[in-house]
Amino acid sequence: MQITIKPSDHAFPCDADETVLQAAMRADLMIPYGCRNGACGTCKGKIIDGDVDYGAYQRSTLSDDEKRQGLALFCCAKPLTELVIEVREVRRAGDIQIRRLPCRIESIDKPTFDVAIVKIKLPANERLQFLAGQYIDFLLKDGKRRSFSLATPPHADELLELHIRHVPGGLFSDALFTQYKGREILRFEGPLGTFYLREESDKPIIFVAGGTGFAPIKGIILHALHHDIQLTRPMVLYWGVRSKQDLYLPDLPKRWQSENPGPFTYIPVLSEPKPEDAWPGRIGFVHQAVLSDFSDLSGYNVYACGGPAMIDAAKRDFTTLRGLPPDAFFADSFTYAAESEARTT
Ligand SMILES: Cc1cc2nc3c(=O)[nH]c(=O)nc-3n(C[C@H](O)[C@H](O)[C@H](O)COP(=O)(O)OP(=O)(O)OC[C@H]3O[C@@H](n4cnc5c(N)ncnc54)[C@H](O)[C@@H]3O)c2cc1C
Ligand code: FES
Repeated sequence: MQITIKPSDHAFPCDADETVLQAAMRADLMIPYGCRNGACGTCKGKIIDGDVDYGAYQRSTLSDDEKRQGLALFCCAKPLTELVIEVREVRRAGDIQIRRLPCRIESIDKPTFDVAIVKIKLPANERLQFLAGQYIDFLLKDGKRRSFSLATPPHADELLELHIRHVPGGLFSDALFTQYKGREILRFEGPLGTFYLREESDKPIIFVAGGTGFAPIKGIILHALHHDIQLTRPMVLYWGVRSKQDLYLPDLPKRWQSENPGPFTYIPVLSEPKPEDAWPGRIGFVHQAVLSDFSDLSGYNVYACGGPAMIDAAKRDFTTLRGLPPDAFFADSFTYAAESEARTT
């Protein structure tokens, strides 16, 4: 079956039982995706002509109304006929191959009680090619996967760094916090995702991190500072957490602000500061801090990463209340695998 993407007119074949996204990736064409399991909505696009089997997805991600308007989630949809679809192509996947590799945990540091900074090492002579901001999936038993964002930029890829929050009772993070001591061997697939800096744009950038959503943003900012991108594109980072101890790398963004030429501003925001924090700074939800500081976002690019509630609220409010073009909002939403395992068709 042939699929044609508008407006580029790129066409590619799709095998029986392949999703539109799988076929596009096989043809070296990258359409946006995040979770690849019908939970985040990143791959949503329009079917201009033809029919699909919508596959297994979460109803909250694609409503019946949206289906009537011709929208589909291309990570789940399989063509039933030849298709013409409309979707934003982000880039050609080019030479970035998605690979399965073993890795060894080199170190586990716990800067606060519920966040671990984990460094992993690939086999000798192996490097992972990736774009700053992408993530990897650990491949666990029984086909389960857990996604974690890369906090290191590609130019410093000797060890790959991950920031993992402890979800009590969580399959992977509980084992990490209670059993792992370092030197464990794991397998992963990567690089994945389309959360990376669009360098063709010259717009100023607002980064919005929620909790460990700081991880991929750290990777992107280190990449940007390494290439002096802030000299032409002013950057501001909002990092939202509950209380002061949750800012688990408190000095790093301060250093970015003080040590770099060119405009880089760091604004930490606490939603529930403790009395002992004696917090002199911003208080509230992180996306609301952005709303208070910017009356017009039409000339910006926003890169947001964190929990689904924050990402959904930021996307909705920035686009509807502040004029941010929807295609200037880039995000990775930390949806939970357990949630999507219970998805409906
Ligand atoms: C693209 C992507 C990138 C991600 N990157 C990161 C990252 O860099 N750092 C990071 O810490 N996490 C990240 N996540 C989330 C991560 O993949 C796991 O979902 C998380 O670590 C929980 O996995 P677990 O196996 O410990 O818990 P599970 O076994 O998946 O969950 C156990 C129970 O807790 C619930 N639950 C799971 N997560 C949460 C939560 N956060 N809050 C409340 N309840 C929850 C589940 O619904 C379930 O009932 C990312 C997710 C995605 C999709
Ligand atoms: S990538 Fe399709 S819904 Fe997340």
